[in-house]
Amino acid sequence: MAKDYKRYLITSALPYANGPVHIGHLAGVYVPSDIYTRYMRLKGRDVISICGSDEHGVPITIKARKEGVTPQQIVDRYHNIIKNAFEGLGISFDIYSRTSSPTHAKTASDFFRKLYDEGKFIEKSSMQYYDEEAKTFLADRYIVGTCPRCQSEGAYGDQCEKCGSTLSPDELINPRSAVSGAVPVKRETKHWYLPLDQHEEALRKWILEGHKEWKSNVYGQCKSWLDGGLLPRAVSRDLDWGIPVPVEGAEGKVLYVWFDAPIGYISATKDLTPDWEKYWKSEDTKMVHFIGKDNIVFHCIVFPSMLMAHGGYILPENVPANEFLNLEGDKISTSRNWAVWLHEYLEDMPGKEDVLRYVLCANAPETKDNDFTWKDYQARNNNELVAVLGNFVNRALVLTKKYYDGVVPACGELTDYDRETIAEMSQIKASLEANLENYRFREALKDAMNVARIGNKYLADTEPWKLIKTDTERVKTILNIALQITANLAIVCEPFMPFTAAKILKMLAVEHLDWERIGDMSLIEAGHKIGEPSLLFEKIEDDVIQKQLDKLEAAKQANLAAAAAEAPVEPQKENISFDDFGKADIRVSTILSAERVPKTKKLLHLTVDTGIDTRELVSGIAEFFSPEELVGQQVLVLVNLEPREIKGILSRGMILMGEDATGKLVLLQPSSKVGSGSIVG
Ligand code: MF3
Ligand code: ZN
Repeated sequence: MAKDYKRYLITSALPYANGPVHIGHLAGVYVPSDIYTRYMRLKGRDVISICGSDEHGVPITIKARKEGVTPQQIVDRYHNIIKNAFEGLGISFDIYSRTSSPTHAKTASDFFRKLYDEGKFIEKSSMQYYDEEAKTFLADRYIVGTCPRCQSEGAYGDQCEKCGSTLSPDELINPRSAVSGAVPVKRETKHWYLPLDQHEEALRKWILEGHKEWKSNVYGQCKSWLDGGLLPRAVSRDLDWGIPVPVEGAEGKVLYVWFDAPIGYISATKDLTPDWEKYWKSEDTKMVHFIGKDNIVFHCIVFPSMLMAHGGYILPENVPANEFLNLEGDKISTSRNWAVWLHEYLEDMPGKEDVLRYVLCANAPETKDNDFTWKDYQARNNNELVAVLGNFVNRALVLTKKYYDGVVPACGELTDYDRETIAEMSQIKASLEANLENYRFREALKDAMNVARIGNKYLADTEPWKLIKTDTERVKTILNIALQITANLAIVCEPFMPFTAAKILKMLAVEHLDWERIGDMSLIEAGHKIGEPSLLFEKIEDDVIQKQLDKLEAAKQANLAAAAAEAPVEPQKENISFDDFGKADIRVSTILSAERVPKTKKLLHLTVDTGIDTRELVSGIAEFFSPEELVGQQVLVLVNLEPREIKGILSRGMILMGEDATGKLVLLQPSSKVGSGSIVG
């Protein structure tokens, strides 16, 4: 039986202030949490939505070091960018705080001190990696090496981004310092550990028995952590950026970022209201954490263990974590700049806030990873928002304006078809609410759009623009019904597309419509005069989309160039004699034809004019060049290389290519055209 809660505490993962927010964050966390919060407000519930910047942790100090600025400058910069961008998209937090706030330092510090005083930590010395050049311990991301699970390079001391495994620094193969590149040594250091194992039973009961209704991705991750057995986890670090460990003899030690950050939810609530305790300490409060899947263990295991150890706090009632959103088929990555950044989107696409909210909700990675593509964005805008929602509202309003000078006509006698339409409208509310209450936001959005579909179909079927010549009474009823549907749309759109909802209300010249009246077909009285109709959405043309795709392509190229610049250059080969070199016969040749070698990925079959003759070559360059772009190009060919048969073709020579350390190939050509057969040497 669902419990009746008196109030709701909604938290959204605190974004790290080491970079701006992108569409992956939005689809995973902030758009869903905003939809849910807006819905709660519309239901008239006592709800607060909490967020803020996560301003501690190693990624921030690494970024500061790289840019030669202070960590404070980094967090100030990104805190402001993130805060403004959220506002721009209409994400309606009640407070957007930051973990560098004085309230937070005190709250987190007191929290630690209480656990410390009550003997809830284990104090333990251990050998940890230390960088003798930089004179610093190497926590988390300060240490890099080869992943023991997937063997990929560049795994961090806390996680491998390639395979997603959680790691500890000791597991890394060939560990190196991310600060200086030095091979680290081990040094003894003391830390405080939260004995998660002591909370294992309570967690099992609470989650595995008590919350079988949680999303299967969340429940599954919790189960596998719990079944694997929990271990004590260090909650302090040897770093100089963070909240100092509030204990004698802990100089140079700060709270682990994952210890302080979730306490940030409490600090932010304190900053919002003096009444904060009723949200955090009453069983009548329903707390919901909106997060991405990489945060599940911290919100379901670690933070709850902290809260239980402390005592007096409630636990989350649900943690509806989402999976990841990819971008154009590739994992979103801050460091590779493979992302659509919210602050840039708002600048590039003014007035299209709701389009992004719509697309990210319609395509949200609720049960599995999903892909954002600009083509899909364009199609959803043009085929759904413009053609269905915008088109319907515009027709209803423009026809009212045209036939009745904007005065709502009275509803006359209803036909069977009218009654069917009204019956369909009466079904929306129950389904919409059930979906919203259960975090099925994609389905909920479909319910809301269904109102527009019903309206669009109603006008298309009744054709008032034809009837106006023969049956003016009937047209009045039709437009009355269409306007009632429009008014319903203003209500149901609010959680998803608040800007659009406000526009519809304005065009209807109505201040407010109560959520509980969804399905009511007398929202607007006959005789009421509506406002000026204008278009809700506009078609997005190909060139606008192409610009965004070009931006991504530029990021990809910049990445390749950066990778090439960083990659080590091959060492020089052994010396050869002048005679050795003189044996090689290299000629400028012109490519006459090119085609793929069937059933291969890399091979091209080329015919070239070497000046000496016309001959066939097989070259492994198909991944870098299309046959069309090669025809007519001049290249350098080593013509006296021993002929070799490849895939049934006798290849007589080899094209010389430039190859960078990442394996990217470029053509080597004379700087202006010369005769085929010209000698290179
Ligand atoms: N900064 C973390 C991330 O982006 C999330 C912190 S959530 C909190 O993954 F609970 F710790 F605040
Ligand atoms: Zn790995």
